[in-house]
Amino acid sequence: MSVPYSGNFSGYTATLLIVSGPLTASVITYRSSLFEYFAKHMTDNAASKSSGTPNQANVSISHVMNETRLFHPTDDFRSKAHVGSIDAYESLYAESISDTEAFWARQANEHLHWFKPFTKTLTWDEPFAKWFEDGTTNASYNCLDANIEAGLGEKVAIHFEGEPGDTRTLTYRDLHREVCRFANGLKKLGIVAGDVVSIYMPMIPELPIAMLACARIGAVHSVIFGGFSAEAIADRNHDAQAKLQITTDGGYRRGKVLKLKETVDEALEKCPTVKHCVVFRRTGSEVAMKPERDVWWHDLIADVSDDCPAAELPAESPLFILYTSGSTGKPKGILHTTAGYNLYAKRTFQWVFDHKADDIFWCTADCGWITGHSYVVYGPMSAGATQIIYEGAPNWPAENRFWDIVEKYKVTALYTAPTAIRAFIKWGDHHVDQHDLSSLRLLGSVGEGINPEAWMWYHHKIGNANCPIVDTWWQTETGGIMMSPLPGAIATKPGSCTKPLPGIVPRILDDSIDHVGVDEGGMLCIEKPWPGMLRGIWRDEKRFKEQYWSKVPGMYLTGDNARCDSDGYFWIMGRIDDVINVSGHRLSTIEVESALVSHPAVAEAAAVGRPDSLKGQAIAVFVTLKDGVAGESLRDELRKHVRKEIGALAQPDDIRFTSSLPKTRSGKIMRRLLRDIAAGKENVGDTTTLEDYSILAKLRSDDES
Ligand code: PRX
Repeated sequence: MSVPYSGNFSGYTATLLIVSGPLTASVITYRSSLFEYFAKHMTDNAASKSSGTPNQANVSISHVMNETRLFHPTDDFRSKAHVGSIDAYESLYAESISDTEAFWARQANEHLHWFKPFTKTLTWDEPFAKWFEDGTTNASYNCLDANIEAGLGEKVAIHFEGEPGDTRTLTYRDLHREVCRFANGLKKLGIVAGDVVSIYMPMIPELPIAMLACARIGAVHSVIFGGFSAEAIADRNHDAQAKLQITTDGGYRRGKVLKLKETVDEALEKCPTVKHCVVFRRTGSEVAMKPERDVWWHDLIADVSDDCPAAELPAESPLFILYTSGSTGKPKGILHTTAGYNLYAKRTFQWVFDHKADDIFWCTADCGWITGHSYVVYGPMSAGATQIIYEGAPNWPAENRFWDIVEKYKVTALYTAPTAIRAFIKWGDHHVDQHDLSSLRLLGSVGEGINPEAWMWYHHKIGNANCPIVDTWWQTETGGIMMSPLPGAIATKPGSCTKPLPGIVPRILDDSIDHVGVDEGGMLCIEKPWPGMLRGIWRDEKRFKEQYWSKVPGMYLTGDNARCDSDGYFWIMGRIDDVINVSGHRLSTIEVESALVSHPAVAEAAAVGRPDSLKGQAIAVFVTLKDGVAGESLRDELRKHVRKEIGALAQPDDIRFTSSLPKTRSGKIMRRLLRDIAAGKENVGDTTTLEDYSILAKLRSDDES
């Protein structure tokens, strides 16, 4: 049963839904001190600009979506949770922001191993932060030795499932041994602290092993996702001045062998700084080995010791560089350092996933992305977690592979991306229905906004209406999750990443750097430094300052837009560059897309603006339908549907149907390319991060007529 309810908070009307049954959804009734904290600037500002015209420079982004469902954690979940009530969250948060340095100092002392304790918590010389700088630690020690000392040596660290079905199990002691051996191998090749090591591998245990071996000796890893081209590897290696390449003879993807070594060979032709290439044998396929330069992994470690003491590293030693594609121009090498990043990954993992000793955690991200760095390697491993690593595609050999793995290993917490969730919806429920998913107690989402209807599907179909969903907002640059429900404490609203984590102070500003009002969209910024924050862009201080610290004085500019509702819940509205401006009203892409996805025939949608002589911009949408649904006749119906859901202003002008959308290799929709296509441009912009080139040709020929 559901009962609509209308209430009025500070002059803003909110309609909420009370749903009975196992979900325990209800009206939000609290008006917390925490909300007051966020709303402080917002309400003042809203009052003073309520009659502003939409064409003013400082206009905020219109919010047209009105998601009103609310889901509380069950009493059972709450009673076992580390943070089990909204009051507990609020007092943790209040403590964290009343004296942020003292808060993080206590976290660092309690949750990291220190060879030499730190005495200085933070040196903040904007935009340069140094956390715990006079202490020494080691991230590999925190992930391995510390667990063994705590009696977890025989605990399973990794259940590995290869795409062809081969499996391996590694305990923390096994992992320690493998990491030490490979670290000794790196030393044999002359790698020392500060050297950059480039890693290009499939998602097999040797990938985290290589990362942790670098961390153990103070080398800086630069992981490049195993789907990138030779050109992309060469660019990144060149920018990083990498000394060593690590790869495999190949990897399995959708039943085929990807020839990683061949790609590396092509790349290394253009990388004079790379002196050696270590090759792990994964597939047994024939590869050419270049004498002097190339060495097999197993040969390198054949005669080394099982022990390699972790180097005592200054807290601010570079831990890794991770390249992320900027919206234009060359990729940026985002730099993270040792102690602050490690602490932030560990604590956010424990808070957000409410980690328990007997959990079986599965983050489906590849270590080629920040999610794999923070929530496969450094977070879960420093928390002594048991986790799944899966090498291959979600639809190999069939579309039920993920659910097969969940059932087989009795996964308790699953962390995946909206792009995967929308693919599962497209493929159909029958792939899920054949599996017992009752081991799951928590679900997570990351990488893009999750459309409310995809959220509902995840909630019902995968979570059996019984698992909190943590919609985690963060970035490569932030190092770890910044906003997310703490699942035992914060009721969830589909599509909202809810509230900030301890120590994080988000702000929303308009173009004139004024704080926006409640429910008004603007630029999302972060006010205080936090330990996981990026320390710079590798070898490009100017770009670091310009991109993140020049527009809004004293704050980190995230590049995303967001709004905060009357309950203090945050809603990410997409990238600043993606805003669609229709007749002076600035609309967010996710809201139009979510309205389309709420139609039963639609699996996925992308909305972009195209030039329009009357309105400034018109809305063009690209729609993927669920398997087995025919498209053309739906055009009018979809227009009407969007009009009904969010209003005439957001009604799409062009609707194109497509079997798939252009995505980056990490699964994000490339709206920039779609903008060019919608505008009829012959030459679309940079396509180097595009996952499937054939989509472009298909989209161009698929005009509305
Ligand atoms: O736009 C936001 C989106 O992904 C961006 C960060 O991308 P990347 O650095 O590749 O890191 C992805 C993994 C953390 C953000 O600026 N994004 C990420 N998570 C969410 C999101 N947008 C909405 N909701 C999210 N939960």
